[in-house]
Amino acid sequence: MKKQLTANELRQKFIDFFVSKDHNQISGASLIPENDPTVLFTTAGMHPLVPYILGSEHPSGRRLVNYQKCIRTGDIEAVGDPHHLTFFEMLGNWSLGDYFKEEAIAYSHEFLTTVLGLETDELSVTVFAGDDEVPRDEEAAAAWRKLGVPDERIYFLPREDNWWGPAGETGPCGPDSEMFIDTGREACGKDCRPGCSCGKYFEIWNDVFMQYVKNADGTYSEMERKCIDTGMGIERTIAILQGKRSVYETEVFTPIIKQIETLAQKTYGDDEEDDMSIRILTDHARTGVFILGDQRGVSPSNVGQGYILRRLIRRAVRHAHKLGIEGSFLPELADVIIELYKKPYPELLENREFVMKELAAEEAKFSATLAKGEREFEKMLPNLLKSPNRIISGRTAFKLYDTYGYPIELTKELAAEHGFEVDEKGFHEAFAKHQELSRAGGDQTFKGGLADHSDRTTALHTATHLLHQALRTVLGDHVGQKGSNITVERLRFDFTNPEPMTKEQIREVEDIVNEVIKRDLPVSFTTMSLKEARESGAIALFEGRYDEQVKVYSVGDFSKEVCGGPHVERTGGMGRFKIQKEQSSSAGVRRIRATLE
Ligand code: ALA
Repeated sequence: MKKQLTANELRQKFIDFFVSKDHNQISGASLIPENDPTVLFTTAGMHPLVPYILGSEHPSGRRLVNYQKCIRTGDIEAVGDPHHLTFFEMLGNWSLGDYFKEEAIAYSHEFLTTVLGLETDELSVTVFAGDDEVPRDEEAAAAWRKLGVPDERIYFLPREDNWWGPAGETGPCGPDSEMFIDTGREACGKDCRPGCSCGKYFEIWNDVFMQYVKNADGTYSEMERKCIDTGMGIERTIAILQGKRSVYETEVFTPIIKQIETLAQKTYGDDEEDDMSIRILTDHARTGVFILGDQRGVSPSNVGQGYILRRLIRRAVRHAHKLGIEGSFLPELADVIIELYKKPYPELLENREFVMKELAAEEAKFSATLAKGEREFEKMLPNLLKSPNRIISGRTAFKLYDTYGYPIELTKELAAEHGFEVDEKGFHEAFAKHQELSRAGGDQTFKGGLADHSDRTTALHTATHLLHQALRTVLGDHVGQKGSNITVERLRFDFTNPEPMTKEQIREVEDIVNEVIKRDLPVSFTTMSLKEARESGAIALFEGRYDEQVKVYSVGDFSKEVCGGPHVERTGGMGRFKIQKEQSSSAGVRRIRATLE
């Protein structure tokens, strides 16, 4: 008989089970990954364990178990249906070079049948079908067969279904075996199988056989020491165990929904559109509380994790308005959420004050913006409705953004509600054009964050050129750019160099860049063909047609580089250049993060 477990019970039973199988429980990590610049949030339990999967000894041994808070923001706009979540908890057990496939599958089967009380007959499993690079996973199939799963419920599926990882752009990965509960509902068609979205099959667990490492150049290397990584989503699993059709009907959501019902004077389940807004509020408030209340919690901002947080809060506020909730509501929801989770995640209670303060501030700020933006949209609507193609021009979207601070993501959503699409490309063009105009005219009336944004990123862009040249001066001409990424806060520069830089080299590079800034050199460009640019000794980053016309930017007599711009006019006043971090990016490639202070 299926056990109707709550989240708290499932969490504990999972840990107890694997501890009884000689696993050591380790703490979950922060939601903000420490050493992985390729993703914003911890997306799986294995993520913080990557160095150990790759071979370092873990201080807690080779058999580990934990529960991990995870955020996946790939598809924020999809949240609102009964299934999508941005935050979820993952249970996982790991073998770091200890047991492998057969034992991992046997543990999974034992937990599902003896602890969760599922029948082997209710299970369907998938295994990797094999391709040119990795053979068909007969071993995993045999392990399932041995446990009594018949061939017709073992599905061999291709890479897009049965391959997991890496968590970021590079790292450990491998074929996997997923476990599904067959709800017994009728198949939607003859192709219906585990993984089908019709709802017949619910995925509850994934055993990954970590055998490969994906390298920065896209190739795979085989790992010497094979590992097991598994992941079971708590919310999904309790929903299935409790016989609920949606995660939102389980006890980790119902108290939040109840609070929203009280605030909105509405009942969940009465109206489809309201239900969607209620789910958005529930999910986004929960994720927001976990980001703010994290041990490395961040505030809303315009970059990185802070930007995702801002988007979540803003989307929640907008749907609260739609539901008719007036005034502040997020701190009240936060209290319900903290109460629900303070035991497994004590950091939420420790950071309660910060969570409340930040939520209230962001909510107030955005409510005002929103009210204005929505009024404007409504005013535009009669005119928009006259146009036959149901497209909101980039200029209109930009006006909402520029004049009322109304974010493009919300314009898109608001537009979709009225059957419109937004010309996003046009929006970005209008945005870029405005930036150019404002620079050309030195127009200081350009508003708020945007002006900061453009000025600061422009200076960081010029700093990137200076850094590039300084690296070549100090380390040698083998230094070539592998990647560049600029936010308002910092530049990030990846470049070829076989070894870490010494402290002295780092200081020397900083000194050279700061000296150039101090000399207040003029920055200018000339247009020429790529061929001429190369011949003139400019550093060229892009492969291209030799006759293609390019801009070559020069910083005084110091640097010359093919680039689209924009750059500062003179180097003076850029600020003080500082290298914050120099680290490995991948084999033979180093990564520098630097700021202008
Ligand atoms: N890392 C695997 C997953 O996230 C277990 O599904």
